[in-house]
This record gives sequence, structure tokens and C-alpha cells, in this order.
Amino acid sequence: MQILHTIADTRAACKALRSYGRTLGLVPTMGALHAGHLSLVRAARAGCDRVAATIFVNPTQFAPHEDLATYPRTFAEDCALLEREGVDLLFAPTVDEMYPPGAETFVDVPHIGARLDGASRPHHFRGVATVVTKLFHILQPDRAYFGQKDAAQVAVLQAMVRDLHFDIELTICPTVRDTDGLALSSRNRNLTAEERTQALALSRGLQRAAQSIAEGNHDATHLQALLQQELQHNRNLTLDYAAVVNPHTLEPLTDITAGALIAVAAWAGKTRLIDNLVLQPQPVPQCEEVHA
Ligand code: PAJ
Repeated sequence: MQILHTIADTRAACKALRSYGRTLGLVPTMGALHAGHLSLVRAARAGCDRVAATIFVNPTQFAPHEDLATYPRTFAEDCALLEREGVDLLFAPTVDEMYPPGAETFVDVPHIGARLDGASRPHHFRGVATVVTKLFHILQPDRAYFGQKDAAQVAVLQAMVRDLHFDIELTICPTVRDTDGLALSSRNRNLTAEERTQALALSRGLQRAAQSIAEGNHDATHLQALLQQELQHNRNLTLDYAAVVNPHTLEPLTDITAGALIAVAAWAGKTRLIDNLVLQPQPVPQCEEVHA
């Protein structure tokens, strides 16, 4: 596996990987890799001739009061894992390489990016859309792989790819969970044993919602109340949102008959956790439908 730190080297290496009509798959990450990230790498290996991964803890998607400084960093272990998975190239730039002094251009998906996590993390998705755009331009993959676990991120990036006419196919992979149901996340490393137990309320709440739906309940307000109850039951868990929304526009729904994204976010101590459940994914709508 080539490990590269500069944009110039990465451009040249990716051009070589894409030669002879070979397809290139991209797996962008912030490192501290776990089985969720590796599932994306495996999907990329299965779907593309060559695979590139990136590790970059992107400062523009963190607000000043957020956990940029304490975000877990395990670069040596990450390299070993990616090597073992057969990744061809790892791009791991410095902050200055990605945002040289004077850089002032951002990519914003203002409406979708202001919902769910975007509501409590105002510039978060502007940072995500900007860094993913930069990575797309640098590596020029044919396909890029993202996890359903970050459902709002998926909605933002799908809209961005559509609106900016990126010739890149997004593949969304299912959420990988621990055996007890907790969605894998790099941030789980920062949980105390007690916080980790409480964090199970997120997946438990979603399971309760799924059960209720299986019993024929299609009322979004009722499902939202179920989730809130499950989360508020835990004294040390602080609810951010429990929402039932359209998976593409992230706008609230009242009825889930036509499909829905059921999403939760909560703080366990200082660690913010998210999880979701998608019902009957629908095709990505055209622009008028999104902004209507
Ligand atoms: P990060 O949190 O490192 O996640 C990298 C990719 O792994 C994302 O697409 C995320 O959805 C996926 N992922 C995380 N946990 C997962 C799980 N349990 N199951 C399946 N996939 C999972 O998301 C980011 O980094 C950043 O915002 C990034 C897109 C790299 C831009 O900086």
C-alpha cells in the first residue's frame, strides 16, 4: 500500500491506478478505523479494480468547542488494517496541505445541511461537503463509499454530487454494529464503561420503533415519542434529536407509509452519538422536490 501525504503525489498515483480503464473506489475516513470503515473498504474492493482510502481529521467540520483535539488518532494501527484489507493507496494529508493559508472556498448544501446533525452543529456539513469535494477532485474516483450510519451526511453528499454534477457514483453501505447493537463509531473509544451501557439506548429505541412499525404503526409522532422515552429513561444520556424524516430532504414526516429515516442523536457524557434506521429507501428526488 502506498502511503502518500501530498496532493501532487496522490494525483499522480491515482492517475496510474486508473490507467488502462481500471476503476478506482474511494473510502474517505477520519481514521481510528473499526469494522464499519473496513466494511466500506471491502465493498470498494468488491466493486472496483483499485481502492484508495483517506485519513484526515477535517478541522472545518468541527466547531471550536467540539472534540477535534480529543478525536481518536491511531494512524499506525489504521495503516496496518488498510494494508491487510488490500487497499492500494492511502492519502493522509496535513491540515496545511488541504487548507493552505488563504484558502477561503467552501461548498455548502444549505437546507439539507441545516437539518438533523446540521441543526446542532451549524457548520458541520459545510466542512464535510468541502473536504469531500477536495478529496473527489484530488483522487478522482469512479465510486465513493459511505456508511448509512451517518444518514444526514449521506443526504448532504447525495445532494452535493447531484447539484455539482460529480461523475462519481456514491455507494451507501449498511451500519455495522457490535453484537449488543451499538453502532460502531470511532468516538465509542472515548466512552466510559457506564456511558457505553447507556449508549445502547439509541439502538434499543430504534429497535422498539421497528417493532412498533412491524405491528402496523405508521404514525411518525408516536414513533418519535417512543424513541424519546427510551432515551430520556437514561438519566446520563442527553437527547439531541429523535426524528422521523424523509431520507433525502431530511424534512419531518407525519406518516411513514412511503418510507422514512428514523434518526437519533444523544450525548453520553462528552461524546455525541448517532444512530438511525431506514425504511424502504426511495429514489433520490429531482431538485424541485427537494426544495419545494
Ligand atoms: P468517519 O466518521 O471516519 O467515517 C468514515 C466513513 O465510515 C463514513 O462514510 C461513515 O458513515 C462510515 N462509518 C462509520 N461508522 C460506521 C458503521 N458503524 N457502519 C458503517 N459505516 C460506518 O464520516 C466521516 O468520517 C467524515 O465526515 C468524512 C466523510 C471522512 C469527511 O471528513
